[in-house]
Amino acid sequence: MATLQLASRTSDAWIEQATQHIDLILLDHANCEKKAAGNALSLLFRYPSNGQLVETLSPLAREELQHFERVHRHLQRLGIPIKPLSAAPYASLLNQHLRRPEPDHLLDALLVAAIIEARSHERLGLLGIHAPDPELRQFYLWLTAAEERHLQIYLDLALAHFCADHVQERLHTLLQVEAEILSTLHPEPRVHS
Ligand SMILES: [Fe+2]
Ligand SMILES: [Fe+2]
Repeated sequence: MATLQLASRTSDAWIEQATQHIDLILLDHANCEKKAAGNALSLLFRYPSNGQLVETLSPLAREELQHFERVHRHLQRLGIPIKPLSAAPYASLLNQHLRRPEPDHLLDALLVAAIIEARSHERLGLLGIHAPDPELRQFYLWLTAAEERHLQIYLDLALAHFCADHVQERLHTLLQVEAEILSTLHPEPRVHS
């Protein structure tokens, strides 16, 4: 089974920033889950005749919304006021690397989604160890398994549509781009700061 190795490890500086501002991380995380659902949905709109894609990404979108609901419950349990929050530049910078023409666009969209899931898996796992609240730690450890499955779904979709060498080559490039984006810590505490 092909898998995906991130090109960099999350720094201790991010762990410190995240654990000191867990309220903002939770608020941002709620937005990330909505965006993960929205991204899967937008692929359903873009490729409606692709049966394999529709059958795997529709349940994935539903699962991301269930994650959102669970994050929302933790926000309420902890009494964190819900407020609008600007996004980290991470996803929009990554999306600038999506090529427009097909079929390149499909490959890039699947690989960028896989990379975001992989980074989320890594960082939520760190929150599972370092979050200040025991219920949150338990929640994050549970969540990492789902995000790992999601990265595999996106990677398998890429491999089902494109030859393995081509996937690996493009994946390598996008992984370098992603590591470069995260090489300086964004000053606002976010899941992908
Ligand atoms: Fe999720
Ligand atoms: Fe996910």
